[in-house]
This record gives sequence, C-alpha cells and structure tokens, in this order.
Amino acid sequence: MEKFIRPQPIDNEIPLDDTKIIMSKTDERGIIEYANQYFMDICGYDEWELMGEPHNVIRHPDMPKIVFKLLWDRLYQGKNIHALVKNLAKDGSYYWVITNFETRYDESGKIIAHFSRRKAPPRYAIEAIIPIYKTLVDIEKTKGMEASGKFLMNFLEEKGVTYDAFILQVLNVTQEQLNLYFSDTY
Ligand SMILES: Cc1cc2nc3c(=O)[nH]c(=O)nc-3n(C[C@H](O)[C@H](O)[C@H](O)COP(=O)(O)O)c2cc1C
Repeated sequence: MEKFIRPQPIDNEIPLDDTKIIMSKTDERGIIEYANQYFMDICGYDEWELMGEPHNVIRHPDMPKIVFKLLWDRLYQGKNIHALVKNLAKDGSYYWVITNFETRYDESGKIIAHFSRRKAPPRYAIEAIIPIYKTLVDIEKTKGMEASGKFLMNFLEEKGVTYDAFILQVLNVTQEQLNLYFSDTY
C-alpha cells in the first residue's frame, strides 16, 4: 500500500456521463484485477496503481461502514446489491455511483471473481441518501457499526420496506428499469 497516500477529500464532485459504465473485477477478497478505461478516467488512477490493490482505495470517509458490510454479506452469498456509493478520486474529489454486482464461481462452487458495474445515480437519489449516510457515519463514530446497523434496520422497518425496495424507491425506478439501465452498455 506504499504507493497510495490516501487523498484528502475535497468538496468537488466529478460529474458522470450517464451513458457510460464504470467497471471493475476483483478476486474473492476484493483485490482489483481489472478496471475499464472509464473507471480510470473518473477516479484518476492509472491501471498500474489500481491492479493488485484492495477496492477500498477509492473508499470515501463519508461512506458508512454498514453499507459495505451489507455489500460483502451479499457478495459472499453470491447475490447482487444496488448501493449508492460516494467514491474518492485520486485528487480528493468525489463521485456518486449506483452499483450492480455479479459473482462468478469455479466448478467446485468456490467464488473466483466479483464483477461490478456502476453508473450515475439521479441527483434526487443522491440528495435523499446524503442525510441518511451522515446519520449512519455519526452513529458509527460515537457508537460503532452495530448501532448504525440497528438504526438502519429500524429505519427500514418504520418505512415497511426491505433494503432493496428502499433503494428502488430512492431511485424511483422498478427493478426492471434498473436492470435495463445497467444493460445499456457503452
Ligand atoms: C467488485 C467490488 C467492487 C467494489 N467497489 C467499491 C467501490 O466502488 N467503492 C468502495 O468504496 N468500495 C467498493 N468495494 C468494497 C471495498 O472492497 C471495501 O469493502 C470498501 O471500500 C470499504 O472498505 P473497508 O472494507 O476497508 O472498510 C467493492 C468491492 C468489490 C468486491
């Protein structure tokens, strides 16, 4: 990790082209093995800087830990998860994405790779998730991730929705529409 000096976040958003997909492939533990050109264009790292590094090189401190716990719980089960993620670029700028995952297995059923595709979320979804993430991060700073997990579960229960349904609600799309958005390869 010597090559990476974690950038100081700055208040500058990198706009995404919503016709393009940010793609990466990792091994079963999240070590980057492939990133497409648009990934590199947006985060500002060169291929040699990313390959072999853990995917948390672009982790933004405004992201709650509980979101990544949910993400990894799903990935270990070979399931997809749509998460709104704020990522940290090399120059400290940030960019928001909505994620889509696919897990590949070998013949013995062992996970060999995770493929992720990310696209631009609508502005209203970003605005809706910011205060929720802020609360989760604040809880984590003072009481830890178990407490933020409880908060999130209570929040969803009060709304009477699952995590997945909530994300679709925030995006204001159906699962079919979201699948279509991700299939729109460039
Ligand atoms: C295929 C794949 C893609 C990922 N994409 C991102 C991403 O875009 N941004 C991010 O912060 N974490 C991403 N992660 C999760 C990271 O591996 C990591 O869990 C996260 O950055 C939180 O860091 P931490 O686990 O060290 O706390 C991805 C993981 C996998 C397997």
